[in-house]
Amino acid sequence: MPQLDAGARHRVRFTLNGAPAEVEVEPRTLLTDALRHGLGLTGTHVGCEHGVCGACTVAIDGVPARACLTLAVGVEGCDLRTVEGLAPEPGRLGVLQAAFRRHHALQCGFCTAGILMSLDAYLRLRPRAGRAELTEVVGGHLCRCTGYAPILAAALEAAAILRGEDPSGPATREATDAEKAHA
Ligand code: FES
Ligand code: FES
Repeated sequence: MPQLDAGARHRVRFTLNGAPAEVEVEPRTLLTDALRHGLGLTGTHVGCEHGVCGACTVAIDGVPARACLTLAVGVEGCDLRTVEGLAPEPGRLGVLQAAFRRHHALQCGFCTAGILMSLDAYLRLRPRAGRAELTEVVGGHLCRCTGYAPILAAALEAAAILRGEDPSGPATREATDAEKAHA
């Protein structure tokens, strides 16, 4: 990264949810602040602010990243995706989001955007991911409300739908049984 003047503001240009975007920031500005305050995208949440909870997760060039540990100037030229980009159009939910709603995979919703972004990035890379892999993915996030079972059930169902399979197949059924046992 080139040397930056600490007191100056810098214009950062990148792709945001498929469209060109730019924001003016100081070198020390975190990506969470640039998104929430600079661009008004408040779907990316801020919890611990030190990389532990996962609430701030976004995808940078397809890879999930903690926005609270990322400097905004570092995303110059990157392809950035946030939870706002999951919906195919205003008023419609994406496949993962709809599965979360069906399975009641959120309560307060504070963790949800980050979990959705990690799952979305992982399923693009590994569309055949099963229960064990998705458990690892979800385990990188703190959720204090749900107990995780409905999140896993929603993730498995969404994965099946995205693969064009019957979402009531064995993988999803196994997760749904675990969800019922947890209830
Ligand atoms: S707010 Fe970024 S990991 Fe918790
Ligand atoms: S739904 Fe409340 S923290 Fe996950």
